[in-house]
Amino acid sequence: MSIIEKAINLANGKGARGRTGEVAVDSQFMPVRAGAEGPAGSAEALPAAESAVTGAGSATPGEGGAQRRGPRTSRTVTIDVQRLVGLGIAPGPDIDRQVHARITEEFRRIKRPLLINAFEQGPGAPPGGNLVMVTSAVAGEGKTFCSVNIAMSIAMERDRRVLLVDADLQRPNVAQVLGIPGDRGLVDLLEDPALDLSDVLLQTDIPRLSVLPAGKRHPYGTELLASNAMKELAAGLSERYPDRLVLFDSPPLLAATQAVVLVEFAGQIVVVVAAGGTAQDAVTEALALLDTKKPVGLVLNRYPRMFQPGYY
Ligand SMILES: Nc1ncnc2c1ncn2[C@@H]1O[C@H](COP(=O)(O)OP(=O)(O)OP(=O)(O)O)[C@@H](O)[C@H]1O
Ligand SMILES: [Mg+2]
Repeated sequence: MSIIEKAINLANGKGARGRTGEVAVDSQFMPVRAGAEGPAGSAEALPAAESAVTGAGSATPGEGGAQRRGPRTSRTVTIDVQRLVGLGIAPGPDIDRQVHARITEEFRRIKRPLLINAFEQGPGAPPGGNLVMVTSAVAGEGKTFCSVNIAMSIAMERDRRVLLVDADLQRPNVAQVLGIPGDRGLVDLLEDPALDLSDVLLQTDIPRLSVLPAGKRHPYGTELLASNAMKELAAGLSERYPDRLVLFDSPPLLAATQAVVLVEFAGQIVVVVAAGGTAQDAVTEALALLDTKKPVGLVLNRYPRMFQPGYY
């Protein structure tokens, strides 16, 4: 029995509610045209309610001139999709390319149960189901890679939106991967009660995809993520944007207490497991840290077509 099978069995044995999926992810992706569902730069206007979610809730307008009037608008950034394709990211509808079509389909399979758990379960839905944590046992398993690809895949849904949050404050990488500015983001929002989400959120030119980078480096990331500000931010994101999936690219479960803090907020958890790379003990230990009442999904990354050209 493979590591992943054992891990899945373990998750089942622990009574995890509705696995989000176990999917083999390969290294090649099909291209998607930025703005394919609308002209480049035509990102949807930020809803007025966006400005209602603040970093620390009790937003006392602080020094630094944060007392603003009227609706705030977030910045729009352009994503170089061809560059992403080079990184193996950006699923799209190019069905002529069989390999890419297969990978796109795999991310569809990953996102589908996430969407169902988040939006379609009615009264039995997991609380905060639209807050999804993407994590792994140890570093370098492909969390950011999978987070970005899941976000892209959800952005293709016409009636859903996705906010990708870089919550890996130790090894933030989302902005770099997407080629967008990452100097301000989550840390700044949590630290400064005068900021609101729209001040740091980046709306992208890919319709329905927005990004909250990690922002500046902070020596006390765990404390920030455990703060009331984070609790309020998570609750605000979940409740105020019921049509939106919020994906948290998170630190590895075994490497940092930061991840364990995030487990508390997330309504669903995706655990990325690198094929042939993660020791069974590590997967077991990581799964033991999760709340068994929450839906937990396992994504097997870089499996199993390792002898094909282009394999990562
Ligand atoms: N299936 C895949 N196909 C191609 N490249 C991949 C795949 N999975 C991961 N990678 C690449 O492997 C490297 C590590 O992946 P990634 O940064 O997503 O891991 P991570 O878990 O986020 O790491 P960290 O713990 O440092 O944040 C990246 O260069 C990424 O592009
Ligand atoms: Mg990462």
